[in-house]
Amino acid sequence: MPKKQQPLAIFQSLRKDAFEALDEAADFESVHKVESDYLGKKGRLTNILKSLKEMPSAERKVMGSTANALKKEIEGKIKLKKDEMKEKVSGRPTSHWIDVTVPGKKILRGHFHPLSRILREVTAIFESMGFEVAEGPEAETEYYNFDALNMPKNHPSRNLMDTFWLRRPAKAEVGAPTEASELKNKSRYLLLRTHTSPMEVRYMEKNSPPLRIIAPGRCFRYEATDATHDIQFYQLEGLMIGEKISLANLKGTLEIFFRKLFKNKNLQVRFRPSYFPFVEPGVEVDIKLDSESEWMEIAGAGMTHPEVLKNVKLNPSIWQGFAFGLGLDRIAMTKYKIDDIRLFYGGDLRFINQF
Ligand code: DAH
Repeated sequence: MPKKQQPLAIFQSLRKDAFEALDEAADFESVHKVESDYLGKKGRLTNILKSLKEMPSAERKVMGSTANALKKEIEGKIKLKKDEMKEKVSGRPTSHWIDVTVPGKKILRGHFHPLSRILREVTAIFESMGFEVAEGPEAETEYYNFDALNMPKNHPSRNLMDTFWLRRPAKAEVGAPTEASELKNKSRYLLLRTHTSPMEVRYMEKNSPPLRIIAPGRCFRYEATDATHDIQFYQLEGLMIGEKISLANLKGTLEIFFRKLFKNKNLQVRFRPSYFPFVEPGVEVDIKLDSESEWMEIAGAGMTHPEVLKNVKLNPSIWQGFAFGLGLDRIAMTKYKIDDIRLFYGGDLRFINQF
């Protein structure tokens, strides 16, 4: 035999031994043993690979490539053998094995709509100031939406609010004061509330003063839509009734509230005279975020009208109070710099997912 071929015979016997050992191996332990006997740190094949360094280059080339090819072959056979054994143990192909070391998949978590976020924030601030939350129906009677709020039928003030009327006649309500129920029975149809002010009346019918509430909720108006008007929007009504409540309390309350909401101690609040049938005097509330910004109209407010108090059987010479109505969409738009109110209700995930 030529000299060159002799060393290759080593590989042949090595290959034969390794394969036989693997064929005989009946458990993981024996396979591991073969692995370390041949490929381990002091394994037979490893030793040969280590000794390549000392060989003349021509010999090293042949020996090297043969040794590496054999290494790959043995590794392949070992893997096959291991897979076979795993399948035997689990009864499933290894491709179906669960790898418990794979990093977990990120779970998609839900999050709050910007309006829900504002609502939660605003509610928390008022609660910290001692206000309770009251909620009521979106389908409202004419009595609560208009009459009880000093907006009788045929009164021009009703034109201020374009109303969605519902076809279903309202059921007479049970348990309310007699005079009021007479009026209620006259309002035959339900409507979608045009503001949250009806909640003032509903709450005062059932609770006696002194009281402090906020009533957040969805309102509806039959209007053309644009960037600042939608047919639905969120309002938050506030009401405080006591024996010595004044316009100054209203201003102080709103000032504290807005400063907390916008996290700005220098925010200013100003009142401008205005008209709302259920308050006297009525004011428009403006806020100014800082010295550079413009005054911005943000709410309607005033001192609860004596007629409204009478409608809930409160004596206006004893009880006074203030009320205000905030547009939550407006506040969210200012806070999150959103320029179109319709985005809130469009259901576009590209918008929603930014919050
Ligand atoms: N309800 C009024 C509206 O929707 C807003 C409002 C103005 C509410 C004055 C009030 C108030 O409580 O005092 O336009």
